[in-house]
Amino acid sequence: MTTQADTMEKIVALCRRRGFIFGSSEIYGGIGGFWDYGPLGTELKRNIKEAWWFDMVRNPPVGPGGVEFQMVGVDCSIIMNPKVWEASGHVGGFSDPMVDCRHCKGRFRADQLDETPCPMKPSKMVGQSDKCELTEPRAFNLMFQTYVGALQDETSIAYLRPETAQGIFVNFKNVLDTSRVKLPFGIAQMGKSFRNEINPRNYTFRSREFEQYEIEFFCHPSEADMWYEFWRDVRHRWYTDLGLESEKLRLREHVGDELAHYAKSCADVEYDFPFGLSELEGIANRTDFDLKAHIDKSGKDLSYFDDQRKERYVPYVIEPSGGIDRSVLAFITEAYSFDESRASPQFMKFHPRLAPIKAAVFPLVAKDGMPDIAEPMYREIKKRFACQYDPKQSIGKRYARMDEAGTPFCFTIDGQTKEDGTVTVRDRDDASQIRIDKSRCVEYLQDKLGL
Ligand code: GAP
Repeated sequence: MTTQADTMEKIVALCRRRGFIFGSSEIYGGIGGFWDYGPLGTELKRNIKEAWWFDMVRNPPVGPGGVEFQMVGVDCSIIMNPKVWEASGHVGGFSDPMVDCRHCKGRFRADQLDETPCPMKPSKMVGQSDKCELTEPRAFNLMFQTYVGALQDETSIAYLRPETAQGIFVNFKNVLDTSRVKLPFGIAQMGKSFRNEINPRNYTFRSREFEQYEIEFFCHPSEADMWYEFWRDVRHRWYTDLGLESEKLRLREHVGDELAHYAKSCADVEYDFPFGLSELEGIANRTDFDLKAHIDKSGKDLSYFDDQRKERYVPYVIEPSGGIDRSVLAFITEAYSFDESRASPQFMKFHPRLAPIKAAVFPLVAKDGMPDIAEPMYREIKKRFACQYDPKQSIGKRYARMDEAGTPFCFTIDGQTKEDGTVTVRDRDDASQIRIDKSRCVEYLQDKLGL
């Protein structure tokens, strides 16, 4: 029987072997909580980011009652004035409870002891072996600290941003003044964030360096509940539209004291990974908490004059905040397929928009004039779609490689091509093959991929 742990192990092995994900600085033994994307992983992640940017920013969904709103992007610095993080509450309160073990010298998240194996006795969880000697929990601030400039003292302390959101809030007025946006509107940003997680875990799921895609959607306070529901549903649907099976995806409303102090309501989009249901994205009604915090700290006026309502107010904010690396891991997990009856049992069933390579072109053998037909075909296809050319190895092995990369279609040029101008098209999902005229490959891909 295949267990969930086996599945995760197979996914991790495939990702390493096929160049989706590597441990960071592996040749030096790696570093916990940091990861690198290889050639296939880089294309996959890029496609996910491009899908998000297109669907949310360039061509945003239409709001309730047919309201068409504006969405603009920013790309802010990772290191900001430390006052940003004082105002946002991160300096004072962005911490997890931590315990030390005096016996093994390990440090652990106090609220995850039940899920953390003891390093000295992995069959038991931390705290459950006779040898464990745990200290009282204390707060550990998750922000990475650094110094700016040549002087390294209290006055030059700065932080690597733990979220991209604050860059948006502190630029709210700049965007208002320069882009002629009117409420309701959104500002989007994607980029790196850093958190010095006490126990990074579950492959790339909880990392110390990761990317986020975040939207801060500004609206009138009286409309915040409506926009909250709108964004919660839009973001849930986005994942299903890109192929995350709906039974594995869940939208869960936060209740009671689970709500962050700044949020009026919040829901998580969760995915059922082999290691359990876990958060991909949070959608929160952050009220006017952040803008007011920055008004207080900076002394600058960040209110908005609504010329339709003839009213000045501090907008409320709805924030869909997702982790890009978690999305990558969810799309990889969902795509992973195993069918013993196939010559190539492992294949990655990526949605066409996300597949790192959309098509491959193979001459059956690298002689008999076949490369002369295949190479121009490849050159034509790659103008429009990510395409690979591979003239070597047995055809079965080449199909297997493309199946593991998740390439939807392979075109093979064989002896018959020279006679009647047709090529074989092989479908990744059912390994079926048909013949089409070689001049129709681009059109065929456009049609089948819907891109
Ligand atoms: N601005 C709000 C905010 O940052 P969050 O729930 O702390 O909220 C948002 O983070 C998203 O960022 C999470 O839903 C998750 O997808 C991603 N994320 C947070 N911590 C992460 C980590 N250590 N590794 C990978 N992704 C993480």
